[in-house]
Amino acid sequence: MSVNIQINSPNVRYTDAHIVAQYHYQTTSAHREGNNITLTPRTTEMTFRTERRVPRLGVMLVGWGGNNGTTVTAAVLANKLGLTWRTKNGVKKANYFGSLLQSSTVCVGSGPEGEVSVPFRDLLPMVHPNDIVFDGWDISSMDLGSAMERAQVLDWSLQEQLRPYMSRMKPRPSIYIPEFIAANQENRADNVLTGTMAGQVEQIRADIRDFRQSSGVDKVIVLWTANTERFCDIIPGVNDSAKNLLTTIQAGHEVSPSTLFAVASILEDCAFINGSPQNTFVPGAIELAVQKGVFIGGDDFKSGQTKIKSVLVDFLVSSGIKPASIVSYNHLGNNDGKNLSAPEQFRSKEISKSNVVDDM
Ligand SMILES: NC(=O)c1ccc[n+]([C@@H]2O[C@H](COP(=O)([O-])OP(=O)(O)OC[C@H]3O[C@@H](n4cnc5c(N)ncnc54)[C@H](O)[C@@H]3O)[C@@H](O)[C@H]2O)c1
Repeated sequence: MSVNIQINSPNVRYTDAHIVAQYHYQTTSAHREGNNITLTPRTTEMTFRTERRVPRLGVMLVGWGGNNGTTVTAAVLANKLGLTWRTKNGVKKANYFGSLLQSSTVCVGSGPEGEVSVPFRDLLPMVHPNDIVFDGWDISSMDLGSAMERAQVLDWSLQEQLRPYMSRMKPRPSIYIPEFIAANQENRADNVLTGTMAGQVEQIRADIRDFRQSSGVDKVIVLWTANTERFCDIIPGVNDSAKNLLTTIQAGHEVSPSTLFAVASILEDCAFINGSPQNTFVPGAIELAVQKGVFIGGDDFKSGQTKIKSVLVDFLVSSGIKPASIVSYNHLGNNDGKNLSAPEQFRSKEISKSNVVDDM
């Protein structure tokens, strides 16, 4: 059951279409001259405007046929269909217990009855995951039913129930530039665009428009969940400004596929989120997003358990405690840990950090 929250403040205004909130962001700027330090409080006035009508949302995944792409699509579908399935430990039911937005609460204040907490998802109007429409691209043509099996994440009896739905989903052909990702991906690259770089970006833009129209969604978010790419050099005259980046794409010079997807999304007025650690957002891409007023963000999905492990190991080692192993489960349910060998336990904290196993 959802709750209705009303803010009683002169800084918050409700119109029929929007919630408009003024926020005074306060910082202090410090200026040092020799031993003299001058502190100047600064206030930046910000306005947050939230649409009250929840839009119909489409999400296009780049790398749709991978572990992340198939698992998130299958998980949302399982929830939407209310699926249950048997495992050796009993019957399981699809749920959103792992979702910060869907399953946690926020303390919003205290009153005569004590602290008041509300579901995170009710703080502002927001899309329910069950209502997201998925689409996407992959360099592998495998349908999502088979790709889900290839990923080996979900219990078999759940896969069997999902397969009729998942098999109908097929990734669109994608931009493939082999030098940007590991050579072992070559065998699966049977679903790739050809032609000039500029023409391929045009095709991605056309795909976004096609999806928007055929699915009837109001908004599209494009999310990179394909393989991690190698870093791009930031080269003056090539990718250091929006104008230079667009000219470089026309000339077909070195631009990574993730940057090409970001540019296509920005030009189609779609938010772009990067889920891998490469430097997709070269200065030219950031400038283009600012010029067009389009939201871009992300430099890897690692904000959850991997991040916590990195922080904890750093803390423990610097406190003189030598962890022997660190283990957790990633979002795909894989046990994700490693024993730290004896010499590793006694080396510097940088070395210990490197033993924090990735989500991968
Ligand atoms: N799996 C995790 O736990 C995790 C956690 C954090 C971040 N990540 C990041 O997410 C990304 C995906 O992880 P995954 O486990 O799903 O990997 P995965 O290898 O299972 O999936 C990647 C998919 O991307 C496709 N692909 C490669 N290049 C492409 C391109 N140019 N266009 C379209 N598709 C392309 C591949 O065919 C594959 O299906 C990785 O970059 C990884 O660093 C993964």
